Amino acid sequence: MYIDSTRHLQLDVDSRSNRYFRNAVERHWDPYEIDLEQDRENLIAEGGTEEEFDGMRAGIAKFGAGEQAVTEDLAPLAIVLDDIDDQMFLTTQLYEEAKHTEFFDRYWREVIHAVEDERGWERSSPTDERWFNEPYWELFERDEEAMARLLTDDTPENRARAYCHYHLTIEGILAQTGYYGMQSSYSGERFPEVPHLPGLVEGFSLIRSDEGRHVGFGMAKLKELIATGEVTPDLINDTVDELIPFVHGITMDERYDTDQGIQPEELEQYAAEKHIERMQQITDAATDIPDVDTLTRLEGD
Ligand SMILES: [Fe+2]
Ligand SMILES: [Fe+2]
Repeated sequence: MYIDSTRHLQLDVDSRSNRYFRNAVERHWDPYEIDLEQDRENLIAEGGTEEEFDGMRAGIAKFGAGEQAVTEDLAPLAIVLDDIDDQMFLTTQLYEEAKHTEFFDRYWREVIHAVEDERGWERSSPTDERWFNEPYWELFERDEEAMARLLTDDTPENRARAYCHYHLTIEGILAQTGYYGMQSSYSGERFPEVPHLPGLVEGFSLIRSDEGRHVGFGMAKLKELIATGEVTPDLINDTVDELIPFVHGITMDERYDTDQGIQPEELEQYAAEKHIERMQQITDAATDIPDVDTLTRLEGD
């Protein structure tokens, strides 16, 4: 047990982690409170082929499995961080990744299956290997390894690698690109030929807001490691550069391309922009990481 006797009170309410923790508590939401009725109705009414439905199922399966993987992979970080404000923030992140997993599971259970039953299609499973491709397995395998390594070899370099895999690449580039794609496709605004799915879009926007906090935490930690001279910007650049081809391999999964909704080229472009923006926020001392209210802002706030 460790008590920091240099502190007057237990928590440092001015610290970034404490502010993030508070923001997470204030923005709490429940995956079972999102109304999915309209999604079911629109998907059934607007028809579409099974192949078109596959494009959507493949996207949701990848998100669901990704959230499950990051829920499982985060724990080593909670063990090695010793600051109580950091640890408290980490508890919110673990809880939120679990809620994200629950949201996608619920969507499959209550929307995808309902549509399949109504259309007379065989019920599919979000864990079916057909939704995933080689780059997907490889990226998540590497993430798990980078996080688990903290338990046996907790060095500043390995912490930086862990943040680069988990927070920067998976959450900051891959997931942000995916949310953008799904929200754009199903918002009912840009692509009138695609069913409007308000429940899915609402879930995505709440998840995206949580993820803004997670990414901000990882980026701030990386920035600190650079500022103290414990790691070089090169280490961060090299680690992310090595992972970017897997992100491309996932966003460009051609097997589920349809002419509907957002196209892979636009996603690719978005991922590239996110990559550049993230690297600049971390490695450029003069560029700040946006404050937590900006990172977690919801449309309409
Ligand atoms: Fe998540
Ligand atoms: Fe996250």
